[in-house]
Amino acid sequence: MSEGVRPEVRYKRILLKLSGEILAGDKSGGIDAEIINALVRQIREVADLGVEVGIVIGGGNIFRGVQAGSQGLDRVTGDYMGMLATAINALALQDRLEAEGVDTRVLSAIEMKEISEPYIKRRATRHLEKGRVVIFACGTGNPFFTTDTAASLRAMEISAEVLLKGTKVDAVYDSDPVKNKDAKPYREISFMDVLQKGLRVMDTAAISLCMDNNLPIIVFNVGVEGNLRGIVCGDRVGTLVQG
Ligand code: GTP
Repeated sequence: MSEGVRPEVRYKRILLKLSGEILAGDKSGGIDAEIINALVRQIREVADLGVEVGIVIGGGNIFRGVQAGSQGLDRVTGDYMGMLATAINALALQDRLEAEGVDTRVLSAIEMKEISEPYIKRRATRHLEKGRVVIFACGTGNPFFTTDTAASLRAMEISAEVLLKGTKVDAVYDSDPVKNKDAKPYREISFMDVLQKGLRVMDTAAISLCMDNNLPIIVFNVGVEGNLRGIVCGDRVGTLVQG
């Protein structure tokens, strides 16, 4: 772990999961420059505190594997297209972070030597120890796995203390807050309750992996500036999911 970590920091190594849709902002797809810059400011803030940051980014703003069937494509092909979409987002995020002076490395689960390093666990942790933000591209490298599952897997592999799921909503609710104005947010909930109540925090594989390995998840609104910093400094933001 980095020695330069600031005393106010609660989590020294985090895995941040960002969905591709977040990058699109209000648009139906693509990458919104203001959104990505706002994300970069938040990530830089925590990196400046000495927090070691791994990021798994989705690709839903460009292509989602599950859409494949409706477009006449094979699901496996669709999933690979989705993985390539995550690589596009990873490069965009890397570009913007480096423009702000944040050292980064993109490590891809599918080898693309010309644009990224291959994912090697020991290399990832070494980069983190050197203070580089590590962006994991191409999910797990396998079809049928979501980038949420990739986030759980990478979090475990790099021994992150917490998985931070950045979303557009403030918390996990007992029903859909868009459809039900009386929906109640949870401050804290167990993995088992998430699974039993069918709450859409992350997919079942991702939740199970975190539950089996005792890795807490915090679901929070990454669109609110200061939230990420607050969480790494121990503020109660969003919903904590734990055993
Ligand atoms: P240290 O050895 O810890 O200093 O890490 P480093 O990443 O700076 O060293 P390295 O010499 O491995 O890499 C230098 C630069 O080349 C970095 O920007 C890496 O991201 C990049 N790089 C390393 N391996 C690959 C690769 O396989 N493909 C691509 N495209 N870039 C790579």
